[in-house]
Amino acid sequence: MPDEPEKKSDPPPEPTEEQKAEATLIARRQLLGKMSIAVGCAGGAALAVPLVGFIVAPLFGDQPREWREVGGVESVKIGETVNVVFVDASPLPWAGVTAKTAAWLRRIGENEFEAFSVNCAHLGCPVRWLPDARLFMCPCHGGVYYEDGSVAAGPPPHGLTKYPCRVKDGRVEIRTDPIPIG
Ligand code: FES
Repeated sequence: MPDEPEKKSDPPPEPTEEQKAEATLIARRQLLGKMSIAVGCAGGAALAVPLVGFIVAPLFGDQPREWREVGGVESVKIGETVNVVFVDASPLPWAGVTAKTAAWLRRIGENEFEAFSVNCAHLGCPVRWLPDARLFMCPCHGGVYYEDGSVAAGPPPHGLTKYPCRVKDGRVEIRTDPIPIG
């Protein structure tokens, strides 16, 4: 079968001046849209970077150690263990009430005290003091500690972390050291 002669298609019509003007307008709009997005992103990044730095930076700095007063010597009887609350050494600006932390304070002599972290040495759950049993109990996995903070039973790998403690001018002070967990 003989090949049919190739049909020549007509060249596309030249765009009119109106069409050209419309195409230019659309291209301009698209460029302006992209520029607006770019400016918005740059502005957002300019605000976000310092804000994130402000929030996160205190978490990576060295934690300062401060002595915090937790009450008068005579507020605890010899042999008694009580819960005391104090403000963290480096309260974050937005921490509010969470800047407060707690410890178990035990009076062992006229001017002698011991202070224990309330956080279990296993995974950090708060331990409770049971005065009748004279034991600290952890509700999470059954960790038990003697009154001196040493491990009595359960999974804790070591005793309760102790805070340095001192008596100054009749007041008991605790140093706010970081608490290692595990
Ligand atoms: S967190 Fe206390 S025993 Fe596991």
